[in-house]
Amino acid sequence: MLNRQNIRADFPILSQKIFGKDLIYFDNAATTQKPICVINRISELYSTQNANIHRGIHFLSQQATAAHEQARKTVAAFINAPSHEEIIFTRGTTESINLVAECFARTCQKGDEIILSTIEHHSNIVSWQLAAQRYGLKIKVIPIDFEGNLRIDEYEKLFTEKTKIVAVAHVSNVLGTINDVKKITQIAHNHNVAVLIDGAQAVAHQKIDIQEINADFYAFSGHKIYAPTGIGVLYGKRCWLDKFEPYQGGGEMIESVSFERTTYNVLPYKFEAGTPDFISSVALETALNYMQSLDFKQIIEYEKNLLDYATQQLLQIPNLTIYGQAKEKCGVISFNITGIHHFDLGTLLDKTGVAIRTGHHCAQPLVEFFGQSGMCRISFAMYNTKEEVDVFMGNLRRCAKILS
Ligand SMILES: Cc1ncc(COP(=O)(O)O)c(C=O)c1O
Repeated sequence: MLNRQNIRADFPILSQKIFGKDLIYFDNAATTQKPICVINRISELYSTQNANIHRGIHFLSQQATAAHEQARKTVAAFINAPSHEEIIFTRGTTESINLVAECFARTCQKGDEIILSTIEHHSNIVSWQLAAQRYGLKIKVIPIDFEGNLRIDEYEKLFTEKTKIVAVAHVSNVLGTINDVKKITQIAHNHNVAVLIDGAQAVAHQKIDIQEINADFYAFSGHKIYAPTGIGVLYGKRCWLDKFEPYQGGGEMIESVSFERTTYNVLPYKFEAGTPDFISSVALETALNYMQSLDFKQIIEYEKNLLDYATQQLLQIPNLTIYGQAKEKCGVISFNITGIHHFDLGTLLDKTGVAIRTGHHCAQPLVEFFGQSGMCRISFAMYNTKEEVDVFMGNLRRCAKILS
């Protein structure tokens, strides 16, 4: 069994008071809190090992380079990637998707088609729209049902000879729906179409096996898995990454430069122009090691129990609607109470020490699909507890009464 008290003690921020109340942090889909081992690692790296990587012949630089490259290997092992050379460090999911959208679109012909879905975060919509505008591509969208499931029957109908890539989220940041990304990938591959999976909301709550999913690209952010902001990951199959032209130009991504002709570095450096965040990459490794020291199966089960418990409690509140009740669902619940604005409810709950998210959650088409301008969202991490849900429910009832 996971020891909840030990886990909570690893996250110093959780013992804070907000407006004199115990903090209840239910905004984990936006960003997760950081365990003390990650915080200490960052401090230790800046205190003892800070030097730019890959370029220095001095001890500190070589030490920092080795740590950064070891972190890449840890990331590869964490998601069971075939090779660490297929792991590109980025600033986050958003940059990973922009990289693929731009580089992939350059390989397309005018009129080629991209398939997205209704549940996508803006980063997996707008990146493709920008690429589509630049290269004359067309975007098609997989519809969903009112439970929040992708309509796989409709998905299959979207493919034509011009379809070149499918880009979908592993887990919805609004509905919590866990998509069957293995099946989605299989269907696309049957049509010789590439697949990008946005794993931002999955990586801390699922065991990711990239070889089993078999997607061509997988993107995630460090800050959603207990690591710092400013570091993200793009896994890409070597066959695609070799084919792509570089995304950005600068130091490190080159083999040789002259004003007449520049040649590019090998993978993964070809896609890592400029000084990377070599402190955050190593802190990401610390976060992944921390996760690996726990039992992932137990984390998944624990978070599922929390989801079921909170769902049952919420459904007892009059006039409350939960958006998305897919069978396969992660610890994310979006809801509204009729007659109460989500912003007002979130603001008042904050005064009770509960941090929730309100608004369109960077998924405006999805929120509008449910006829809403915004929603309240609670999202769990492994350090949340049933007791916190109970306190939240009491506070929610009181706030709703004040506002109605
Ligand atoms: C599903 C999904 N995709 C992409 C992103 C973007 O992540 P980042 O802002 O870390 O790049 C988020 C962030 O909330 C997300 O939930």
